[in-house]
Amino acid sequence: PGMAVARALLVLLAADAAVPVKNPLLNICMDAKHHKRQPGPEGKLHDQCSPWKDNACCTANTSSEAHRDQSNLYNFNWNHCGVMPPKCKRHFIQDTCLYECSPNLGPWIDQVDSSWRRERILHVPLCKEDCEEWWEDCKDARTCKENWHEGWNWATGTNHCPRGFLCRPFSEVFPRPKDLCEKIWSHSYQQSPARRGSGLCIQMWFDPARGNPNQVVARYYAWRKRSSPGQVEKGAPERGRAVLALPSPVLALLPPALLLLPGAAGGSGAPRT
Ligand SMILES: *[C@@H]1O[C@H](CO)[C@@H](O)[C@H](O)[C@H]1NC(C)=O
Repeated sequence: PGMAVARALLVLLAADAAVPVKNPLLNICMDAKHHKRQPGPEGKLHDQCSPWKDNACCTANTSSEAHRDQSNLYNFNWNHCGVMPPKCKRHFIQDTCLYECSPNLGPWIDQVDSSWRRERILHVPLCKEDCEEWWEDCKDARTCKENWHEGWNWATGTNHCPRGFLCRPFSEVFPRPKDLCEKIWSHSYQQSPARRGSGLCIQMWFDPARGNPNQVVARYYAWRKRSSPGQVEKGAPERGRAVLALPSPVLALLPPALLLLPGAAGGSGAPRT
């Protein structure tokens, strides 16, 4: 009976040890134009980027630049079809903050063959409200292009509408919130059916007083991706809340742990010690 208790204790220890195993998709910065190599605290992050100050992939300088028109980050001109209204622009600033600062986008990092970055994000499940509010506040702003990643006229050093592309309201170029979120940065985002606070979608906007909600979301998708590689980016989450997924690494690691225990595997094998 003493042996059984010892065995039970070992199983518990093994389960405990399995929890903090490091997943390489968690708490990382992508290899792109302005990202730090490793995330870390950044006390002076500017204004809309400040929610990431406890742990960020952006520097203070990048966070300030993210708020400027035609910043030195990408020389991108938000005002290519007249001045972008501030209520719309704040969403593009927030989108830039998430992209530059978030250490929680690991599960959606994709390798690219590009002159200015080696990695990008693909199919990040953006919370439904983030998409809807972005669209609502921008629907009367104007643009000439659906995909802002490519096809601009950069002859002057900043982007202008290419010949033949007329300025139209966002609501025509992007009929639904989903069109805006998904098409503007060539599928960096997908509109998630999940809502803010569900633990199943990435939030562009959050109140840092209660921590960064995207941490648990990344953890959920990172472990899912590990157990079924290639499945995570596509489609809606089909399981329940993120909490339900947390034991899965424990379950995945338990059988080998059990096999290491003398006699615990049962069946034919004789105890080796
Ligand atoms: C960020 O750094 C660049 C290069 O050192 C500098 O030119 C720029 O003025 C800085 N931006 C801000 C907002 O401090």
